[in-house]
Amino acid sequence: MKGIILAGGSGTRLHPLTRVTSKQLLPIYNKPMIYYPLQTLLTAGITDILIIVAPDHAGDFLKLLGSGKEFGCKFTYEIQDKPEGLAQAFIIGENFIGEDSVTLVLGDNVYEQEFADEITSFQKGGRVFAKKVSDPNRFGVVEFDADQKALSIEEKPEVPKSDYAVTGLYIYDNSVIEKAKSLTPSPRGEIEITDINNLYLQEGTLDVAFVKGQWFDTGTFESLNAAIEFARSRELM
Ligand code: TTP
Repeated sequence: MKGIILAGGSGTRLHPLTRVTSKQLLPIYNKPMIYYPLQTLLTAGITDILIIVAPDHAGDFLKLLGSGKEFGCKFTYEIQDKPEGLAQAFIIGENFIGEDSVTLVLGDNVYEQEFADEITSFQKGGRVFAKKVSDPNRFGVVEFDADQKALSIEEKPEVPKSDYAVTGLYIYDNSVIEKAKSLTPSPRGEIEITDINNLYLQEGTLDVAFVKGQWFDTGTFESLNAAIEFARSRELM
């Protein structure tokens, strides 16, 4: 299993904080944000990790994280020239992934849960993790049938069919590379990970599990602040 941390993007919702630095380098209490998704991969036993960054701050990530030796792992770096969508991670990462399966974690997602069991038990298809949220229209939203079986996933719907958002950790088999290459950009100019998830759904191989414990997408001031409070209380426990 390979790991990818996607830490590009433009972070416009956090302006002016992100005018001179990258969102994923901002502090979450006593650590840079990217340490949290990194820890999520490391505690799941993933040690071969690709970090995808935007061109502007690539040097800062290298300075902060280095080779990976300090963390007991190996880092590879790639640059995403433009923020053209989460699914682009699998095209940029094609050589890195090789013949393996891959876990993608977004560089601004903070999980309480450890994913070792979910990752070691993974064999094929896709596995994503949903969480009930108060603002589902910011996310990919899962529609379930009466037996909690996922029927569809809609990206940022105006009228969400449930309160369950797909969160920022995704486990896929190697076919994700070809799936990503087959996509066409959405009206907002991005190739969407929601489209990848729907391809797996159509194949009948998408497992939609539920997040255990707390989860934060730190892309807004409110959620950033909530993540900081969570990290602080956990640190002081
Ligand atoms: P978003 O929060 O959706 O986008 P953003 O970080 O550019 O922020 P904003 O909407 O405020 O401008 O991205 C989620 C995560 O994925 C975040 O860690 C950035 C990363 N990302 C990329 O690395 N490349 C991309 O093309 C996109 C869309 C996001």
